[in-house]
Amino acid sequence: MSYEYLYRRSITNREDFWSEQAKNLAWYKFPTTILSQDENNHYRWFKGGMMNTSYLCLDAHIENGRGDQLALIYDSPSVGTVRKYTYTELRDRVARFAGGLQTLGIGKGDRVVIYMPMIPEAVVAMLACARLGAIHSVVFGGFAPHELAMRIDDSNPKAIISASYGIEFDRVIPYKEMIDQAIVEAKFKPDFRIFFQRKENYDQLNGVNEFDFSKLELSEPVPPVPVEATDPLYILYTSGTTGTPKGIVRDNGGHAVALKFSMENIYNVKPGEVFWAASDVGWVVGHSYIVYGPLMHGCTTVMYEGKPIRTPDAGAFWRVISDHKVSIMFTAPTAIRAIRKEDPEGKLFEKYDTTSLQHFFLAGERCDPATYSWLHQLIDRPVIDHWWQTESGWPMLGIMMGVEKLPVKIGSAGLPVCGFDIHILDEAGHEVERGAEGFVAVKLPLPPGCLPNLWNNEVRFFKGYLEHFPGFYQTGDGGYQDEEGYFYIMGRVDDVINVSGHRLSTGEMEELVASHPAVAECAVVGIADELRGQRPVALFVLKDGRPDDEFAVEDQLVHLIREKIGAVAFFKNAILVKRLPKTRSGKILRKTIRNIADGNPFAIPSTIDDPLIIEEIRSSFKQRGVGVAFD
Ligand code: COA
Ligand code: AMP
Repeated sequence: MSYEYLYRRSITNREDFWSEQAKNLAWYKFPTTILSQDENNHYRWFKGGMMNTSYLCLDAHIENGRGDQLALIYDSPSVGTVRKYTYTELRDRVARFAGGLQTLGIGKGDRVVIYMPMIPEAVVAMLACARLGAIHSVVFGGFAPHELAMRIDDSNPKAIISASYGIEFDRVIPYKEMIDQAIVEAKFKPDFRIFFQRKENYDQLNGVNEFDFSKLELSEPVPPVPVEATDPLYILYTSGTTGTPKGIVRDNGGHAVALKFSMENIYNVKPGEVFWAASDVGWVVGHSYIVYGPLMHGCTTVMYEGKPIRTPDAGAFWRVISDHKVSIMFTAPTAIRAIRKEDPEGKLFEKYDTTSLQHFFLAGERCDPATYSWLHQLIDRPVIDHWWQTESGWPMLGIMMGVEKLPVKIGSAGLPVCGFDIHILDEAGHEVERGAEGFVAVKLPLPPGCLPNLWNNEVRFFKGYLEHFPGFYQTGDGGYQDEEGYFYIMGRVDDVINVSGHRLSTGEMEELVASHPAVAECAVVGIADELRGQRPVALFVLKDGRPDDEFAVEDQLVHLIREKIGAVAFFKNAILVKRLPKTRSGKILRKTIRNIADGNPFAIPSTIDDPLIIEEIRSSFKQRGVGVAFD
């Protein structure tokens, strides 16, 4: 079948298209309505359908004879362990742990926060929640307690599930201490804290309502609880333009149908094959393609607790592909840049037998052509850049390798995936000409699997995504489409940045920097970084009459962001300036600051209030060696 035919059908005949796809799943009750609108006029998929996501990911495969097939391979160079679970073994762990959660009174609709490293117990916890119809909210383990506290206050979870510690190269991340701190800060206090002890009795579980994960797992197994297709499966918080993260809601039915469809049609992987997304369960890539997608499709998923480099070397990825016969691999371009830096000639790749590898997918940030070409030449297999975001839950652009292996264009994120009617609009919402840059927007309705709403925040959902271009979902990205229909994503049009494939808000950082008592005003921008894609840098002005030592304040600000957001923000520079560059109407010229650091040619804006400030900023960056222009 041709891509063009399938794609057209998915847009012109949506309901039949997705109804057919829905038939690939084992529903308890098939949906009565394929597409409808709720009381807020938001689109909903598969109303009336009854199902259970954990059943589809586990029990259904066992019933179909896959019980002895590997479901999950845990490979951890961080602790020197490889453990493998068949579908039956994983189902049994999930059913028992769900039984344990049930004894605590956790059931349908209750929220559970999961704050864990990349260990199989994180998957067990997610699927156990899904089994009970409880709504999980996984928080990336690299976020600081303050970030965790904000998510606790928004989602009001009945329980938090964690593990004794995470490992970052040779550094131990003490989760229990971090959870204790988050709970002190949060206004909402969860009833239960559950810890997986990575070493026997590592944590002293003395607190009231503190439980040992493994002891709960000794409970009687429970069957999957039927839920509505429109019931939430999870909330995943992501950065927006303000300090408060947005709770992206994912429903059960649309999610299951979309992910199953994507495994076959985008990733071109067959049940029984090994699929590896080298990401983290704390991000959407981890939710969709470490956990739910591969398991929904009957694949073996790889859970890797390590890094692309130094665990033990830059051959780590090739070793995992070889050891576990990975067919399809997916990671962020940052990881490839890190490998290339350590092993530019790809000598370590040659050490391993990677013949199992068929395709390599990249996403999470813009892939620079040099990285793309290096990887493509090295592995000599199709490398596909594809574009999506937490909100969409699955790819919106790419090459649908299971439908038609159309050519890849370097620098492009590909063609629209079935169901996504993508347009480039100008500020007024008019379609721009081919080749012209604009706002990337998706015509409503979004296909199954995308966010139906934000958790407890209908107003922010409408204002953030739907208001600006009526009838469209605004993605927050800018880009253009070429004559042949391929799209190019050029970056965010808001203040979200992407640091090592990690999505962060400069707005949030700005609020924190501004909260320092010595700071009069500030701007935080994302500047180019050769390894990480982008990294944040702050410019700040001291309050009049403050006697503070400028270097002390700079250090305090760096420390503040690390403490409040986490090391993952990679916030290393706060730079004191006399004034911020502004227009005469007082708007901070953030783009100009970025251009200076990135070494881009630019004209000094005619609206600037004081052109001399440009030179001052340039020399501050130069003095500190900040920005690729001054490295
Ligand atoms: N828990 C705690 N801390 C974490 C963390 C986690 N899960 N992940 C990252 N951090 C910390 C790091 O230890 C580092 O701390 P440091 O400043 O004290 O050294 C800091 O956050 C910055 O991390 P990172 O940007 O990841 O830099 P790095 O030098 O440790 O590693 C790469 C660089 C390229 C190897 C790494 O970023 C990587 O593997 N990237 C792939 C990204 C990815 O998979 N993204 C998912 C989206 S698809
Ligand atoms: P996240 O929600 O964390 O997955 O981040 C989503 C954002 O990452 C998108 O809005 C884009 O800005 C960026 N992004 C993801 N994939 C790509 C890609 N393939 N090319 C360019 N940008 C990407």
